[in-house]
Amino acid sequence: MADTIGGDFTAVARAHSNIALVKYWGKRDIAVNTPAVGSISVTLDALATDTLVSFEAGLDADEFLLDGRPEPVPRVSALLDLVRDRAGLALRARVSSTNNFPSSAGLASSASGFAALALAASHAAGLDVSPKELSVLARRGSGSAARSIFGGYVEMHAGTKASGLDSFAEQLLPAADWPLSVVVAITEPQPKPVGSTSGMLGSAMSSPFYPGWLETADRDLDVMRRAITDRDFATLGEEAEHSCLKLHALMLTTRPALIYWNAATMAAMHRVIRMREAGLPAYFTIDAGPQVKVLCAPGDAAQVAVEMNQVPGVHEVRISALGPAAYLLDDDSPALTQAGR
Ligand code: PMV
Repeated sequence: MADTIGGDFTAVARAHSNIALVKYWGKRDIAVNTPAVGSISVTLDALATDTLVSFEAGLDADEFLLDGRPEPVPRVSALLDLVRDRAGLALRARVSSTNNFPSSAGLASSASGFAALALAASHAAGLDVSPKELSVLARRGSGSAARSIFGGYVEMHAGTKASGLDSFAEQLLPAADWPLSVVVAITEPQPKPVGSTSGMLGSAMSSPFYPGWLETADRDLDVMRRAITDRDFATLGEEAEHSCLKLHALMLTTRPALIYWNAATMAAMHRVIRMREAGLPAYFTIDAGPQVKVLCAPGDAAQVAVEMNQVPGVHEVRISALGPAAYLLDDDSPALTQAGR
């Protein structure tokens, strides 16, 4: 059995959120949660989840605390069941997660959350799993979580197998090989109204743009992969904005419509375009929520943050560098402290 902290079926892991440059939207198979298209992301150093998993005798059911508050357990239990099956373990678990950013507000807390859960649960159960296997496991919790197992620039493969075993992420380039900053403008700290899974199913069923979305995915991935290999920031930025706007065109034309933007989201987008016209190379991207993430060179991040702070309706601005792969923590982490250990 692999090492567990204190040998007591307990482990703590940290994973970072990620932002897709080429977006994923749509499921190939909902049962094993495979995406309809591949995606490319960057992992964000400033947005992290710490998760404690402790398999314990005497628990009747799994328990899940998020930022100290009890939360619904089914999605967490479903991932723990995969780990228990593989480890031959019957014990239920206590899970405690802390985010250093607002949960469920379009900042990909499910990405960092399920990546941290997959790593901590596998380790606590004594499993010896490769990063690729962890990515497959994390994907079962949330599609974008498969990418948060890795640091830097990351590509997620849609895969073709019914098992989903070829639907995993891998690193394209380490963060240190091409430093990039992401300035996150938070326009609404409250949870989003429509979750991504139900939104995706709605888009596939009702948006007339869905076939076009599927048809253009491979082209978008090829161009972005090449931009990263060539360290071509202008292409990376233009393609990231295009993928974001194409995603939101799909969302807006879903019935019922998925309108994730608010007035400040729109104002921030225009501000980025104006910055660019004034000679500051910066590009926006937005996920299933109202927050605006601005891609720029590290030397321009402070200036971009000043401009984003001036946009009416922006509550908070954070600057992030690119982040590392998910990793295990020792037992004095915040998640452990919060769980009272
Ligand atoms: O990981 P999910 O299933 O919650 O979906 C995330 C979808 C987007 O964030 C909108 C795009 C992406 O590729 O991350």
